[in-house]
Amino acid sequence: MNETMLRDEVLIDKSGAVGVVRINRPQALNALSFSVMEKLVAALEMYDQDAAVGCLLLTGSERAFAAGADIKELEAATPVEMALSGRMELWDRLRRLRKPLVGAVSGFALGGGCELAMCCDMIVASETAVFGQPETDIGTIPGAGGTQRLTRAVGKAVAMEMILAGRRLGAREALALGLVNRVVPSESFFEEALALAAAVAAKPAVAVRLAKEAVVRAGDLSLEEGLAFERKLFYLTFASADQKEGMKAFREKRRPAFTGS
Ligand code: CAA
Repeated sequence: MNETMLRDEVLIDKSGAVGVVRINRPQALNALSFSVMEKLVAALEMYDQDAAVGCLLLTGSERAFAAGADIKELEAATPVEMALSGRMELWDRLRRLRKPLVGAVSGFALGGGCELAMCCDMIVASETAVFGQPETDIGTIPGAGGTQRLTRAVGKAVAMEMILAGRRLGAREALALGLVNRVVPSESFFEEALALAAAVAAKPAVAVRLAKEAVVRAGDLSLEEGLAFERKLFYLTFASADQKEGMKAFREKRRPAFTGS
């Protein structure tokens, strides 16, 4: 693909209306050093702000999406350094991305790599994808949301087994447990994920953004609060030109011409 080098460890490329961000640190199986995390978050934020981009796509290599935080970098860290470095706050910025984020995951998605995959709104997994949270093996625990997001995604029993006993999930198990959206051959995982992201990017931007916001909040709110929140966003869509165009086009039996406004 025609990738532009942002810096060597993170590559960016626009494919139509999809902003593609690729982790490119093969010598360390895409381990998420502070520097890689800073670059990938900055790249995703850049595309999040780009009016020509409708959906974000995050990927790694066929062998590794990411094998976790960079253990060699963390080995000598102190709690104070960890707290003051801003390292973990980078993960908060991923939560604030407004556009949908699709993950194209192949090979290892371990530790921080599994946590990064779970920051995606949808995951297309290659049949070689392996998800795990092995942090207790090296004397720590998942620190970028693993205990919370994994438990919400696959339930307490499986999350406990993955975190406490090192169980890894293959792609098919991950699919059966609802962790990923689909499993595809490893030769085509990126193209399949790109097609999904392109389908999202073709939709009216205001509705997509509000729909993502509503679904994300479903995890935090009571049903009553969530329904009230959804209703307000639903009303808000009626202020968008694309809502008028979408409904008019339906009535006139033609394809809508969305403007993203
Ligand atoms: N950090 C730093 N380097 C890593 C790494 C990591 N997480 N994972 C792999 N690498 C490096 C290896 O050190 C090795 O480098 P050298 O050639 O310089 O020795 C290179 O990548 C290739 O790795 P292996 O030789 O180990 O490859 P393998 O095929 O035998 O094994 C693996 C692959 C099972 C993924 C193994 O590398 C592994 O277990 N990696 C660590 C996984 C892990 O524990 N992740 C959790 C990290 S902690 C965390 O993520 C905290 C958090 O919640 C944010």
